[in-house]
Amino acid sequence: MEAYIVDWLNLLARWVHFITGIAWIGSSFYFIWLDDHLEAPKEATDEEKGVGGELWSVHGGGFYHSQKYHVAPRILPETLHWFKWEAYTTWITGMFLLILVYWYGAGVFLIDPSVADLSVPLAVGIAALFLVGGWVIYDLLCKSPLGKNDNAFSAVLMVLITLLAYGLCQLFSGRGAYIHFGAVLGTIMAANVFFVIIPGQRRMVDAAALGQLPNPEDGIKAKQRSVHNTYFTLPVLFVMTSNHYALTFAHEYNWAILVAISLAGALIRVYFVARHKGKASPLPVIIAGLILLLVAAVIVPKSRAAITGTVTLSMIRPVIESRCTTCHSRNPTHIAFPAAPSGVMLDTDEDIDSEALRIHQQTVVLKAMPIGNLTRISDEERALIDAWYLSRVQQE
Ligand code: HEC
Repeated sequence: MEAYIVDWLNLLARWVHFITGIAWIGSSFYFIWLDDHLEAPKEATDEEKGVGGELWSVHGGGFYHSQKYHVAPRILPETLHWFKWEAYTTWITGMFLLILVYWYGAGVFLIDPSVADLSVPLAVGIAALFLVGGWVIYDLLCKSPLGKNDNAFSAVLMVLITLLAYGLCQLFSGRGAYIHFGAVLGTIMAANVFFVIIPGQRRMVDAAALGQLPNPEDGIKAKQRSVHNTYFTLPVLFVMTSNHYALTFAHEYNWAILVAISLAGALIRVYFVARHKGKASPLPVIIAGLILLLVAAVIVPKSRAAITGTVTLSMIRPVIESRCTTCHSRNPTHIAFPAAPSGVMLDTDEDIDSEALRIHQQTVVLKAMPIGNLTRISDEERALIDAWYLSRVQQE
């Protein structure tokens, strides 16, 4: 029953998480687009009112006219829409999911004894420290003199992000490391909104309400943080879907793959931001494409037959029974899985035979199963499954 409730909480939190995530990222993409498409106002009266740029658009059968003020309108409107709950609810539901799946389920999803044999409290403690530490270090850097030099700051950030990916991958299971990498960046993004962007906006609105000129420093700081958020977006979205791709997180050099794909994501975003402003060089996208191609070429799986001679199904059945069917069965005995994960059941010879491709893929090629190597499969047993699969292919 408990696992069933956990499944439902997972489903609901995930659903809300991506709805609010779409709203957050969608509106932030929209405002960047808007900013970069503004034209000088046509009406002289608008200029006098302090309008700096305007834009006409048509959407859903209606015409929209947006105007951006140089600083603030002289009289504040009665209703002023803020965009903050999208970010907060995305972070809150994301944390809820992280805690539910990876902390509460640390034994299955976060800890991999073949990476680091951590106890549950230690693993969760380290994970929490990364989330808090990531923000503290990033925020201090932004406020330091380095924060004023964009190029130097980007270089330092890249080094820190590489260390983050490397460090996490030395501590946690591949999928646990990847999701925490995304959670550290996602936490920085939400904290940027909560601690810097919104308070700055609030001070600007307060000043405008008093008829004073807002402090431009607030605007500059908010801009810097929202630019960072823009570049974090694509890497974070990759990480959020990465647990479907064992070919990335289960690889020996998973940390390098993570850094490379994140870099490609940031470069693609660089191109889109530049394109909004007018003609942009396609170079960043070309480099991003080459990085992705290179990663794909380097991690292409190789099949090695370490064992020669024909291996029959009856020879691998004991391996499946001891390493897989605690979870992958019509009646799983593992407490975390009341039903076979992904619907994969390996109780009978027919089951095993019909799942041969996926068994080989998950156990030998990707080494993603047994998950977190909870049932401690040995390299010899993986080699045996490999040889069985090859014998089978040769017979066909
Ligand atoms: C402790 C529980 C557990 C054990 C033991 C385990 N698995 Fe899994 N397996 C899972 C979970 C959880 C998933 C779903 C993973 C996901 O959502 O990405 C899964 C998914 C799979 C899938 C489907 C993957 C896909 O995306 O198509 C296959 C195939 C699989 N396991 C095979 C195996 C084999 C073979 C073994 C034994 C060598 C094994 N598993 C051992 C928990 C387990």
